[in-house]
Amino acid sequence: MTTTMLSLFRDAPIGLGTWHMGESRLAAQTEADAILHALERGVRLIDTAEMYADGGAEGVVGQALKAFGANRRDALCIVTKVLPTHASRDGTIAACEASLRRLGLEYVDLFLLHWEGSVPYERTLEGFAALRERGLIRHWGVSNFDAPELAAWCATEARMGLDAGRDACAANQVYYSLQARGPEFDLLPAMSARRMPLMAYTPLASGELAQDARLAAIAAPLGLSAAQLALAWVVRGGEVVAIPKSATPARIDENLAAATVALDADTLARIDALYPPPKRKQPLAMI
Ligand SMILES: NC(=O)c1ccc[n+]([C@@H]2O[C@H](COP(=O)([O-])OP(=O)(O)OC[C@H]3O[C@@H](n4cnc5c(N)ncnc54)[C@H](OP(=O)(O)O)[C@@H]3O)[C@@H](O)[C@H]2O)c1
Repeated sequence: MTTTMLSLFRDAPIGLGTWHMGESRLAAQTEADAILHALERGVRLIDTAEMYADGGAEGVVGQALKAFGANRRDALCIVTKVLPTHASRDGTIAACEASLRRLGLEYVDLFLLHWEGSVPYERTLEGFAALRERGLIRHWGVSNFDAPELAAWCATEARMGLDAGRDACAANQVYYSLQARGPEFDLLPAMSARRMPLMAYTPLASGELAQDARLAAIAAPLGLSAAQLALAWVVRGGEVVAIPKSATPARIDENLAAATVALDADTLARIDALYPPPKRKQPLAMI
């Protein structure tokens, strides 16, 4: 993890997810406009994947990035992911090249293994290292890795001599929300010890938390919506970046405003009463 990316996550802890974008040609322009809106409003991190709409989401992100302008591209953190079935050395390289074509980019900032498959970590890491050597990715990382898998991945990096400074696994993207607090038990502390940020996917529990009347009752006196409270809670510790998805400009603005909300101890206790922290190890939830 470089100081640059860690500080980017700290300065802009709310990014934008793109799952389900690019699925319909009719909606594509609206989605690209929404992503552009997010970028203009200060979102710095866009999360996508080759899996989403079979590359369609990357296409929509590419459309928005083109409109945003190449001169401002360096300030962004563009994240995409390789499917485990493509994660051999050569498959990883080919998948990244195809993602870059769809995104219209020369490099992505962070390239993640979407989830663990049957390919040995060494092969995927050989692909990641070759991509970084060629300047096609700035950093690599993983997704849906629980604490033991992450420890094994990091040990593999160390065995391969890939664990120094910017070469090391830069992030782990997992399901983390008020409805999925399992990572707090062991994964977050383990990542914290490595100074590795957690990228929280589905932070609104697929939109459910935005409709949660009990959460809304805690949020309203603070001048917040339930969605804002849920997002402010996810990023409260400074080591988590949240990537809520929305294709609605007003919701994007609402979500982004959560980045600057500080929650006091009383509010955190009321949230804990609604959604208790884990008391024991829970298997990592996946969506
Ligand atoms: N690595 C992985 O395996 C993995 C798995 C799942 C997701 N992800 C990533 O994480 C991103 C976010 O997760 P997600 O899309 O599953 O779920 P999410 O962000 O928790 O929720 C998205 C849903 O909430 C709605 N929404 C957003 N903001 C809202 C607001 N302020 N008020 C009311 N509704 C709101 C959205 O609708 P509108 O669009 O209509 O506003 C959408 O239906 C994904 O898009 C993807 O990039 C990664």
